[in-house]
Amino acid sequence: MPVSAEAKAPARGFGLYVHWPFCVSKCPYCDFNSHVRERVDEARWTQAYLAELDHYAGIGIGRGETITSVFFGGGTPSLMPPETTAAILEAARRHWPFAPDVEITLEANPNSAEAAKFAAFAQAGVNRLSIGVQSFDEAVLRSLGRAHDAGEARRAIEAAAKAVQRYSFDLIYARPEQSAEAWRAELRDALTLAGDHLSLYTLTIEPNTGFAGAVARGALKPMPDDAQAALYDLTQEVMERAGMPAYEISNHAKPGGESRHNLVYWRSGEYLGLGPGAHARFTRGGTWSAVQNRRKPEAWLEAVESEGHGRETETPVGRRERAEEALMMGLRLSEGVWAENLRAASGLSLDEVVPPARSVPLEQAGLLTRTSDRLIATKDGRAVLDGLLARLLA
Ligand SMILES: C[S@@+](CC[C@H](N)C(=O)[O-])C[C@H]1O[C@@H](n2cnc3c(N)ncnc32)[C@H](O)[C@@H]1O
Ligand code: SF4
Repeated sequence: MPVSAEAKAPARGFGLYVHWPFCVSKCPYCDFNSHVRERVDEARWTQAYLAELDHYAGIGIGRGETITSVFFGGGTPSLMPPETTAAILEAARRHWPFAPDVEITLEANPNSAEAAKFAAFAQAGVNRLSIGVQSFDEAVLRSLGRAHDAGEARRAIEAAAKAVQRYSFDLIYARPEQSAEAWRAELRDALTLAGDHLSLYTLTIEPNTGFAGAVARGALKPMPDDAQAALYDLTQEVMERAGMPAYEISNHAKPGGESRHNLVYWRSGEYLGLGPGAHARFTRGGTWSAVQNRRKPEAWLEAVESEGHGRETETPVGRRERAEEALMMGLRLSEGVWAENLRAASGLSLDEVVPPARSVPLEQAGLLTRTSDRLIATKDGRAVLDGLLARLLA
């Protein structure tokens, strides 16, 4: 997203996130709020999502706002009955106007049974699919514990291209023992199948996952940091040459293909969250609230049935904290943090949050750029973002 120094800040948007927490099996690297259940009572679950949506409309959250994006995430939302997707979208449209170019994304696993439902999701209103491919290598897919093979991944991408206007898929790289040559070849292959967006994640070993246990036993050896960094650089080079530069640390798009929903988070916009473990950020009675729903599916379901919502915590967030969150999120973006958006999200000016005296040494070190209207982490800065933030916010 190249923008001139004096361009107007882009709108932050207003999003709706819907979390479907179920998966056919648990992948050993994954610490998302995902659960394997033999069966779920679909009618009961549909009612609960609709009830939580009604609750938020009833207490006036987002009154006067226009929904710019909806994201069905998981877990595996492609396991959701398309009728449930349609019912949630219909109810949301009754409560809030949808922007004419509203982006409605559903995360999908490439298993053939799920790909067969893509047309029905499109019929329900979904106009963007995000597919968890992870790799096109059969042995790697097995080692990642995936419930699909490479042929299914390719067929799912083709089915997505037919069903919706826009699609993306995810790959995981910097896997143990992965060579630069192998990753370059896999990326080139991926580019022949890509739509307007690709998410490319380096493998992280998350606490309390199967992979964390394997690392502790010495059965899995994560790629050393310097080798990971080299693959990250290689990724940037290949993707830039292909016309899909990173607009966020792990996300690449053709111009205009960026995920509008994720941009709501990165630009510190407001969003509602439905379902187990969903987060939300919105203003209520003039206070900025950070909401976290109950994570356990049954606990959320029972809470919604008895209280109308599944919130576990709703924490008021002060101005300084909001500004820090806006920097943490916004510096992930290649466009950086807009002073105007920082003020809208926190009430504070860029100079109040980051006095020039604090950013100058980081600018001199080539990690940061400051213009009259934005603060931008350079490519080198984004590669060491945690350390950069620690120095900026010290
Ligand atoms: C909510 S998850 C998965 C969506 C969908 N259930 C699937 O597996 O295809 C979104 C993405 O996060 C990425 N991811 C999850 N855990 C990861 C990890 N430990 N390291 C790197 N990427 C990870 C995967 O690429 C995954 O597709
Ligand atoms: S990676 Fe996707 S399919 Fe695997 S457990 Fe996590 S959410 Fe479920």
